[in-house]
Amino acid sequence: MSKTFKVAIDGPAGSGKSTIAKEIAKIFNLYYLDSGALYRAFGYFVKKMNFDLFNEDDIIKALKDFDIKIIDGEYYLGDEKLGMQIRTPEIGKAASIVAKNEKVRNKVNEILKSLSKIHNVVIDGRDIGTVVLPDADVKIFLTASIEERARRRYKELLEKGKNVNYEEIYKEIEKRDIADSTRDIAPLKPAEDAITVDTTGKDIKTVVDEISKIINKKINQE
Ligand code: CDP
Ligand code: CDP
Repeated sequence: MSKTFKVAIDGPAGSGKSTIAKEIAKIFNLYYLDSGALYRAFGYFVKKMNFDLFNEDDIIKALKDFDIKIIDGEYYLGDEKLGMQIRTPEIGKAASIVAKNEKVRNKVNEILKSLSKIHNVVIDGRDIGTVVLPDADVKIFLTASIEERARRRYKELLEKGKNVNYEEIYKEIEKRDIADSTRDIAPLKPAEDAITVDTTGKDIKTVVDEISKIINKKINQE
C-alpha cells in the first residue's frame, strides 16, 4: 500500500484548528478528522450514562460500550448524530477530564491511526504532531492570544443562539489551556518539527493561504 499524505494541526482551544483544517481538507482533497470531537463524544457519553468522569472503573465500562462512528464526516454515537450537544463548554470540560486517561487516549488514537493509514488526512487536536502522527508530512501549531480565542468562541456560540457569557468562556478556555498543557500524557505542545502559525489578528483566509503555501512547498519537494 502506498504511503498516505498526512497533515497534523494542533493548538489550544479557539486557535482556529477545525475551521482551518476543514478548508485545508477541501483545497487538498484530504479526509478531515476532528480528534477533539472524539474526546468530546466520549465525555458526552460518560455523562449521558451517569458515570463519573474521574472514576477509572466507570471509564473502562464506558469504553466498552462507546459506539462511535464517522459517516460522511458526521460523528454518531450509536444512532445519535452528534452536533451542538458536544460543543458546549460543559462537554469541553468533560472532554478535557477524560482526555487525561491513557485508555481513552489509546482508543481515540487507534481510531485516528487506522483511518490515516487508508486515507490522506488532515487531523486537528492537541497531540497529533507529537503522538498520533509523528510521521506527518506537515505539522502546524496554531496559536492566538487567549483574548482573541475567547472572543472567537463567544461570537460563534452567540451566533448559534446560545446564551453565553464572555467572562465564563475566557475562564473556561484559560483553565483548559492549563489542564491540556500541564498533563502528564500527551500534553499540548508543538512537535519539534512543527511550524507555529500565530493567528492573532489574522482572518481565516489569511491563515488558510499561509498554511496552503507550507503544504504546497512540501508537496513540491516530494
Ligand atoms: O475545539 P476546542 O479546541 O475547544 O476543543 P477540542 O479540540 O474539541 O477538544 C476538546 C478537549 O479534548 C481538549 O480541551 C483536550 O482536553 C482534549 N483533546 C486532547 O486531549 N487531545 C486531542 N488530540 C484533542 C482534544
Ligand atoms: O478548533 P478550534 O477550537 O481551534 O477553533 P475553531 O472552532 O476552528 O474556531 C473558533 C472560532 O474562531 C470559529 O468561529 C472561527 O470561525 C473563528 N476563527 C476566526 O475568527 N479567525 C481565524 N483565523 C480562525 C478561526
